[in-house]
Amino acid sequence: MSAVTGHTHAERVDADPMVADRTDVVESSPNAQPAYDIAAWRRRIPLLKSLVLMNNCSQAPQLDVTREAAEAYLDSWNKAGMDWDAWMAETYKAKVEFARLINASPDDIAVSSSVSEATASLASALDLSGERRRVVTTEAEFPSVAHVWQAHAKYGLELDWVPVRDDIVYTEDYDGVIDERTLLVSACHAYYQNGYVQDVAAIARKAHEKGALLYVDAYQSLGVTKVDVQAMDIDILASGNLKFLLGVPGIAFLYVRPGLVEHLKPAVTGWFGRANPFAFDVRGLDWAPTAARFDTGTPPVINAYISRAGMAVINEIGVDAIAAWTEHLTRRLIEGGRARGFRLHGIDDPGRKTPSTAFVCPEGESHRVEALLLKRGILAAARGPVIRLAPHFYNTLDDVDLALDALKAVFEEDLSA
Ligand SMILES: Cc1ncc(COP(=O)(O)O)c(C=O)c1O
Repeated sequence: MSAVTGHTHAERVDADPMVADRTDVVESSPNAQPAYDIAAWRRRIPLLKSLVLMNNCSQAPQLDVTREAAEAYLDSWNKAGMDWDAWMAETYKAKVEFARLINASPDDIAVSSSVSEATASLASALDLSGERRRVVTTEAEFPSVAHVWQAHAKYGLELDWVPVRDDIVYTEDYDGVIDERTLLVSACHAYYQNGYVQDVAAIARKAHEKGALLYVDAYQSLGVTKVDVQAMDIDILASGNLKFLLGVPGIAFLYVRPGLVEHLKPAVTGWFGRANPFAFDVRGLDWAPTAARFDTGTPPVINAYISRAGMAVINEIGVDAIAAWTEHLTRRLIEGGRARGFRLHGIDDPGRKTPSTAFVCPEGESHRVEALLLKRGILAAARGPVIRLAPHFYNTLDDVDLALDALKAVFEEDLSA
């Protein structure tokens, strides 16, 4: 057990899900099919009638069930005036679905409005008064997360950077940067720009060897990539909901490992972080014994309704089956992009990336490429120098081919027109 982290994760690891039986592995044949009824799922996504949806790294589409969930909240508000018991129960059910996704317990989960807020809440709980006050992060973090660490410089936090090289972060580059002064390592699971997946279990080992904590931003991987906080030995994990988790903006979740949570007292807090929020003890600042101490004010209830429904779909289909199918689509994207002469950003190993596949655009043109693709019926997502094509469980090989053909036409015809 680490003196700094009170680390007892080994006690909680009972199976290694990374060696799960992969009966759902998709053969690399042109006639391959996912392990679930893809046609039935596609009928539940109205927007597929008009567009090829490749923007799941930015905003996943609406399903019948996510719409119904929003309507359930609106109906309850309209008919009952207020129903706090049901609304709080639904918020807790959202925690249950999130916990299922990452192999945690719902009491290890806090609800927040964004990853930025959840990370700021965590940062406000760190003790920066001692020698150990350095945070190691990477140039592949979403800026939000790195900005929170930088903003805490005024409280004594010092930041060390692991570089992006060849569009990725090499795991060995953490060596030498993490040391006895490192309080926390902040690593994204997947790089928002090109879907590259970091080996967070290896990073956890490196952090824990030096007595540091590991915080993971899994916003770009959850829903399409297996995450198991116990097997991967992750101390803290945050994610929002609108990308591969099929939800909406305005809600995010924070996992904090039991055994650690008792030592953290966030200054970003509110009445829902109390042991009993309904005690209304204005002078008593106590702390919920669970990760609920990272809850702040009244939760985003309508977003909880929608996000619970979206995550339930992911849990029902199963991340293993989704990962197997989207890996197949990713291979097609990479090979199809290569055949059409596109320049891939990141790595070409579908097993080390999410389906979010980035192609380099002519300088300064990525947002125009996004707009031109939309004119051709393809919804994709520009970011910095790249255009990202990010399929999900409901996409087909035809979708991938259509998107690649459209991108070729945009590059070769539309941009020069
Ligand atoms: C990996 C990652 N982290 C964090 C964020 C930002 O999250 P939020 O807007 O909830 O703070 C994003 C948004 O795109 C992201 O891709």
